[in-house]
Amino acid sequence: MISKQKGCVDLYGTTAKKWQYVNKVIDSLMEKYNYTFARTPIFEASELFHRGVGETTDIVTKETYDFVDRGDRNMTLRPEGTAGVVRSYIENKMYGEAINPRKLWYYGPMYRYERPQSGRDREFTQFGVEVLGSNDPLVDAEVISIPVLLYKMLGLKGIVVKINSLGDKESRDNYRDALVKYFTPHIKDLCEDCAERLKKNPLRILDCKVDKDSPILKKAPKTIDYLNEESKKRFEEVKSYLEELEIDYEVDERLVRGLDYYNHTVFEIEASVEGFGSNNVIGAGGRYNGLVETLDGPETACMGFATGIGRLVQALDLEEVKMPIIDDVELFVMYVSDTEKKYATSLVQYLRANGYRVDTEYTGRGLKAQFKQADRLKAKFTCVLNSEDLDNNEVKIKNNKTKEEEVISLDAIIYYLDEQLNLMDGEECNCGHEHKEGHECCGHCHHEEE
Ligand code: HAM
Repeated sequence: MISKQKGCVDLYGTTAKKWQYVNKVIDSLMEKYNYTFARTPIFEASELFHRGVGETTDIVTKETYDFVDRGDRNMTLRPEGTAGVVRSYIENKMYGEAINPRKLWYYGPMYRYERPQSGRDREFTQFGVEVLGSNDPLVDAEVISIPVLLYKMLGLKGIVVKINSLGDKESRDNYRDALVKYFTPHIKDLCEDCAERLKKNPLRILDCKVDKDSPILKKAPKTIDYLNEESKKRFEEVKSYLEELEIDYEVDERLVRGLDYYNHTVFEIEASVEGFGSNNVIGAGGRYNGLVETLDGPETACMGFATGIGRLVQALDLEEVKMPIIDDVELFVMYVSDTEKKYATSLVQYLRANGYRVDTEYTGRGLKAQFKQADRLKAKFTCVLNSEDLDNNEVKIKNNKTKEEEVISLDAIIYYLDEQLNLMDGEECNCGHEHKEGHECCGHCHHEEE
């Protein structure tokens, strides 16, 4: 048997339905924020990530999936979404279009060769947004508000928003010098990689996975003390917009993030859920004003974030959040023998084309076993087609909950189902809400603000 690769997951059954539900909420949320969907390739020239994410980051030095294609070109499976979106923004000259800023969102698989552990996969899925073309601190706050609202809509409670500012280039350079001065006498007490980081990119020492609990790191200089006046003022504005948006946050003065492109605002959102383990950051992002230029585009101010869907669903599960997944069918069509099978086939097709969730028998089971199958599929209604009823243009439909049966004209089946399913409106749905028109969460209901 060939097994799946380490750090990869197979999605199926209830977990797959939960992912689909999360996707549905994301889709609807992005429509409300007026972001447009963007899809970029899963592999790109390796150079894009070397220059974009940063030569000295853990992602680029240790974690990329690289390969040489049949034309001898160096390729990399994308480890994150930002670099690809920025490349696409430049290549398609989106900066020249009247729509400014560009508000884009994406969803898809990313690849990092990490040591597999809970919350850290080698293939994982991110939902992310990128706003390209505005330096307004309101954008920083609004981007942070997206995952906050998403998690709230999904019902996740224990989240902690941590923010910090790395400041502009001048502030970052000053901070870098301060770190070199501070770490140089201590470097022998840190890991080998940190010695290398001190030479190439001292900021990276602060997100070292080996030394993260060392007191040396804990006493390191704080970014905030090296911000120039302008950067400080900008950070204050971001915070005041967050307050305006009623987003609770903590300032974490040592938050620097593991990617090189950030400046000014950086943030991480932790799920403080019991049992989640150390990889409890479910979403993160920040401002990256220099990246478009690094990748040969015009000066463009940008801000974005990404959230891992796997970690998010795991947090929802740990909090035992009930998700409104559809795990039933509205009608299960059974038939007595092959004589009625053809009619069953066309009836099922007709109902599906009219918007009903319908299933039927495919394995030649007898009637008793078909009833069992209907129960397994949690059918709301069942019907058994027999030649006699069909000759009379009739069908017997049973409400699986009340066990009541009715004979109805086949011509009226849609009206009947519509009426009966509407009668079920007002009952509590499996998402925990009352059935209502509006089709926002589980396809039946719309969420009332709690
Ligand atoms: P990141 O912090 O590397 O940022 O990843 C963002 C989120 O992706 C993490 O918080 C986590 O939920 C998820 N994630 C990352 N690595 C893994 C993994 N190995 N297994 C499972 N989930 C993972 C970025 O990727 C930036 N591009 C975010 C950004 C967008 N910044 C600006 N724009």
